[in-house]
Amino acid sequence: MIEENNEKVLILDFGSQYAQLIARRVRENNVFSEIVSHKITAEQIKKINPKGIIFTGGPASVYVKNAPQCDEEIVDLGIPILGICYGMQLGCQMLKATVKPTVSREYGRTTCIVNDQSKLFKSVDKDIIVWMSHGDQVVELPIEFESLAFTHNCPYAGVKHKKKAFYGVQFHPEVTHTLQGSQIIRNFLYEICGCTGTWKIDSYIEKSLHDIHSQVGDGRVVCGLSGGVDSAVTAALIHKAIGNHISCIFVDNGLLRDYEADEVVKTFKDNFTVDLHVIHARERFLDKLKGVIDPEKKRKIIGHEFIEIFKEEAKRISGVKFLAQGTLYPDVIESIPAHGGPTVTIKSHHNVGGLPAELGFELVEPLRFLFKDEVRKIGEELGLPEELVWRHPFPGPGLAIRIIGEVTKPRLEILRNTDKIVIEEIRKAGLYRSVSQCFAVLLPLSTVGVMGDERSYENVIAIRAVETTDFMTADWYRIPHEVLGTISNRVINEIKGVNRVVYDISTKPPSTIEWE
Ligand code: XMP
Repeated sequence: MIEENNEKVLILDFGSQYAQLIARRVRENNVFSEIVSHKITAEQIKKINPKGIIFTGGPASVYVKNAPQCDEEIVDLGIPILGICYGMQLGCQMLKATVKPTVSREYGRTTCIVNDQSKLFKSVDKDIIVWMSHGDQVVELPIEFESLAFTHNCPYAGVKHKKKAFYGVQFHPEVTHTLQGSQIIRNFLYEICGCTGTWKIDSYIEKSLHDIHSQVGDGRVVCGLSGGVDSAVTAALIHKAIGNHISCIFVDNGLLRDYEADEVVKTFKDNFTVDLHVIHARERFLDKLKGVIDPEKKRKIIGHEFIEIFKEEAKRISGVKFLAQGTLYPDVIESIPAHGGPTVTIKSHHNVGGLPAELGFELVEPLRFLFKDEVRKIGEELGLPEELVWRHPFPGPGLAIRIIGEVTKPRLEILRNTDKIVIEEIRKAGLYRSVSQCFAVLLPLSTVGVMGDERSYENVIAIRAVETTDFMTADWYRIPHEVLGTISNRVINEIKGVNRVVYDISTKPPSTIEWE
């Protein structure tokens, strides 16, 4: 767990799409935050002893039957609470205010007038732009409350209880559309909860090294390297904690991008001198994928094959007791049903989640409390190469789900070389860090073109670039036309077998980021 004397803020989740964003905003202010179910009891909270509590928003109406509630005694604990949207309405209702539907649902940016600039709104302008998204609101406040802010449609956009440490805002301070939202969250943490900002990445590293050491002792840990940042940071952290008691397995499935396999091997062999087992299994994966078109089948085959190879190799390493995994905090939260994990499988993402039970190893997950940006900071601190630390996410099944239709050696070759050009040009244009993910997709159709005086009938490549914070929703990235032009020219000129390049301008939802 996290350092006991670290200041912590608990986020009670009432089904908000922004719970993770709130957690990140708190951490950005150097205060550790943890998302918990709204069903947590006051007793449990007392034991955790947080500096503050945030009630998230949520889709329900507080006055309907079965609306998510929380233990009534939480407001009596004396721990400061900030209720956001539904969280404000719930807290206010618990403290005898009246919540009713608004005449019309309010959604989007609006101006909010602040009439009390102490504490919660300290250093915040008198007129601020806030982001609203509600169909209910507090309409009557008992005398024990003070109003701190209002908007044209919402008489109580910010409130405070005079005796209990309860604050509420109807708008969403956690989203960037609320222009001074991060100041409001900072005020809650520093002015109201009395936090001092003890949460720092280097103290996390120190604590993590200590935890790994005490969990693992003299035991041997095995860790699968995928080529991505999460598994690399996991391995580097464990290596720092226990030296050569870690063995890493890297399966080269032939579905990686051009430079990845070499870079992973080089990093871990040269820089970290880790006991690295590289399994060359390109043919094995290609064989299994022969004739397979259905993306879910591809995922299953690749996942299964990976597990088989990993098991075979792990058995060869003597004395393994632990399996290290790069599980991140969003994976942990999303796998808990109370936090709204997906109920319908859109795509069954392949990861090594099936391994632990089968192998009988104990799990070591040093990143399970971290967000991706925090993992990257740790990667930098540990001296991993910049290209690896800032690498865009890459799906476990790799290029196989970016070749629509059958995966063959020649098609892999086309896509790998195209992808290399796309990434090179995006880097050259200085866009790599502002794009969240960017790649090429090889489509299963040929179109007519003209090359020289000849008619051609060849492959189409789609370019996909998105910007997103959580990969659950995403917007297409506005790559400048000149950069798109250069990519298109280079791909068509340099890649044999491609005569057309198109740019994907769909958002997620309704599209997904990958094409399969
Ligand atoms: P989608 O396509 O679902 O992608 O919008 C969201 C994020 O997940 C990645 N992705 C995968 N990652 N195995 C993975 O490890 C998979 O099967 C898989 N499918 C999609 C995708 O690249 C994006 O970052």
